[in-house]
Amino acid sequence: MRFKNGFEIHCRLQWAGRVFLVLLLPSVLAKTKLSSKIKMSMKYYDIKACDNVVHYFRFTKVDYRMVDGGDVVDTDCYVDVDVKYLKMIFVQLQRCSGGVGRNQCEYFTGLKWTTNLCELATAKNMLWTPFVDKITPTFKCPYKAGFHQLRNATLDLSSFEKEGFHLPWERYIWKVHLRVLNEMDQIALCFNGTFEVRRVLVRKES
Ligand SMILES: *[C@@H]1O[C@H](CO)[C@@H](O)[C@H](O)[C@H]1NC(C)=O
Ligand SMILES: *[C@@H]1O[C@H](CO)[C@@H](O)[C@H](O)[C@H]1NC(C)=O
Repeated sequence: MRFKNGFEIHCRLQWAGRVFLVLLLPSVLAKTKLSSKIKMSMKYYDIKACDNVVHYFRFTKVDYRMVDGGDVVDTDCYVDVDVKYLKMIFVQLQRCSGGVGRNQCEYFTGLKWTTNLCELATAKNMLWTPFVDKITPTFKCPYKAGFHQLRNATLDLSSFEKEGFHLPWERYIWKVHLRVLNEMDQIALCFNGTFEVRRVLVRKES
């Protein structure tokens, strides 16, 4: 009887120890995580208007700058048609190995959106939010043809991942082809770019 109780108590203590580990350890780890976080930092190359289709888009300036360890893009451009609403957004991704200059690229995926695009374009916490937010004049439908400026723009891949798009970002260099059609099927925006992604640990300063 005594032995059995002693054994039980011993087991309970062991069990309590495990519960302690299981419950407490993650919260200890979570606390260390709070003071630093992983940021997906972008490096952009070679952003150019499309050359193989009829479209109504041109760049007059494209610059890349490094801010906080990641690139941002500054552009001046013209969209030469009015956009009453957006009819289609098409993104094609190619993945490349062997360096930026080597053309060892293969088709990776194509994504097409066709509904509620004006709302989608201006929605918060999307891949393109820190891009669309930086357009002057402010983007909203309908949008007038003319001169546009983009300053400190980037893409938010972390938001994209939260939506379930876990791509092998760091293993390749990526080429993106983007096309945006207006209500008359005119290509209002069309460009190609190349980018790289690095995950960097950012420590919060406090
Ligand atoms: C842009 O990308 C498309 C699709 O990958 C390709 O057909 C076209 O030649 C590219 N144009 C430029 C200027 O790189
Ligand atoms: C862009 O970022 C720089 C700092 O890198 C800042 O001085 C400037 O005001 C920003 N411009 C806009 C339009 O957000």
